[in-house]
Amino acid sequence: MSFKLLTSAPAKIILFGEHAVVYGQPALAVPVSQLRAQAEIIPTGQPFRLVASDIDETLPINIDDELVDNALAHMARLTLQTLKVAPPNVSIVVSSQIPLASGLGSGAAVSAALGRAIAFATNGTLSNEQLNRLVYEVEGLHHGTPSGVDNTVIVYERPVYFIREQTLETFSVAEPVHLLIADTGKAALTKVSVGDVRRLHETDPAFTQPLLDAIGRVVQQARTALESGDLPRLGALALENHHLLGQLTVSSPELDTFVQTAINAGAYGAKLSGGGRGGNMIAFVNEQTAPQVESALYAAGATRIIPITIEP
Ligand code: MEV
Repeated sequence: MSFKLLTSAPAKIILFGEHAVVYGQPALAVPVSQLRAQAEIIPTGQPFRLVASDIDETLPINIDDELVDNALAHMARLTLQTLKVAPPNVSIVVSSQIPLASGLGSGAAVSAALGRAIAFATNGTLSNEQLNRLVYEVEGLHHGTPSGVDNTVIVYERPVYFIREQTLETFSVAEPVHLLIADTGKAALTKVSVGDVRRLHETDPAFTQPLLDAIGRVVQQARTALESGDLPRLGALALENHHLLGQLTVSSPELDTFVQTAINAGAYGAKLSGGGRGGNMIAFVNEQTAPQVESALYAAGATRIIPITIEP
């Protein structure tokens, strides 16, 4: 009998508060457990090999060379240093079902799965807190100034109400919340949109600060709407959040079209999710409206739609 030694981590989606969370405002995010990054540990008795064939890497990845500018190599090195162990005699093959550069946290999920695999292969213990710190460090090396929300929701795999550098809070919903995650098919790097918002904030804080504060208020109201099951209110807040993000310049014509399409087809509300400029939009629906919103979004050009339900 053969079995696989696998570790994994989920995708994530930001419900409310992206971008403003970088500046200390709260954000609400949930894991998307049906989409995962995985790391398979293959005992070989040979020197450590790290392979990421189906992501975007040539293989194998050299972790010994400090100059290799590769997120997986960094994650492997940091994990080994934290555990104070030598590279194990295994191959680790990293793969992911999570689309790249689409706001679903593919990079953080791959790092988390890899960290867990290295801990497993070396009989080490890596707490979620330690893993979260390492994934954040790697995200920071490759994505500029992340808030930490992505790695946190991915590592803990729980709904989070996240405020930078504050104790983690989770939240629960009063009613099932049905979401459609619709992909524009346009890859967009979070690093770029986060950098653009930063420049805008530096050059014109009088314009951006009220927008960031308004997003923070929307997030708090959205938490109340989630916790009390007020889905129409949640939808209206999603739209408000989308418009505020548009003013921060991180929407796109495709995202605006998707949002309008979802609302015309009966969604409670919709907004871009993650870094924006492309990637994914989320629509808040119910079981009755989901099919028609889904068809309308496909007709508007969605390349993939993932339905998820946040259960009470
Ligand atoms: C990206 O998923 C979320 C952003 O708010 C960036 C961050 O929080 O680091 C855009």
